[in-house]
Amino acid sequence: MPADPYEGLESLSTEQPIWERFFTVAPLVLVGTQEKDGQPDVAPKHMAFPLGWGNYFGFVCTPRHNTYGNIERTGCFTVSYPRPGNVVTTSLAASPRCDEVKPIVGLLKTFPARSIDGVFVADSYLYLECELDRFVDGFDDNSLIAGRVVAAYADPQMLRGTDIDDGVLLADAPQLAYLYPGRFAVISNTQAFPFPAGMRR
Ligand SMILES: Cc1cc2nc3c(=O)[nH]c(=O)nc-3n(C[C@H](O)[C@H](O)[C@H](O)COP(=O)(O)O)c2cc1C
Repeated sequence: MPADPYEGLESLSTEQPIWERFFTVAPLVLVGTQEKDGQPDVAPKHMAFPLGWGNYFGFVCTPRHNTYGNIERTGCFTVSYPRPGNVVTTSLAASPRCDEVKPIVGLLKTFPARSIDGVFVADSYLYLECELDRFVDGFDDNSLIAGRVVAAYADPQMLRGTDIDDGVLLADAPQLAYLYPGRFAVISNTQAFPFPAGMRR
């Protein structure tokens, strides 16, 4: 290591957001909500993740998006995890609105959630029904929307089991990763993580 560990590093200005200067790996999900008129709304989100090890799920959303207002009004949302083959329709769910309507949503194949108001996007591999836990506002113009998972459904091919090796499972059913700010990857070639002996979470 050089005497000065900062030698050779570029200092990034925090006057501007830093996140477009490099790639970061994220998931990509479709959040489903219900509009004021009862119509479904669907929007892709990559800042989306489990909140802890319990059944909580959160994502980042600006209050300017209908998704935020819909959840504020209904107190619930759905999450569909798209397969890599559906990356184009997943992206199209971010198409702009015309006269307040997002026409693409009517073209997506959807089906209703069971215990909350909202729809899932068909041909996904994992589906969550969430009840709003809280909004955490104030990350500039963005908020964390935290939900409690009250129901979940999965394609059995994606479920881990004692009869199938995790590596084989992922090779057979690859995952979609979003590489912010504008690339994606299909993950099928994986390795077991080298956890330290005796590690506790
Ligand atoms: C790949 C991708 C990832 C996105 N991730 C997010 C996100 O994490 N948070 C967010 O607020 N918007 C995100 N967006 C933008 C919204 O999905 C988009 O503005 C959407 O049209 C908002 O819809 P709504 O007004 O119906 O809520 C993303 C868009 C794309 C294409």
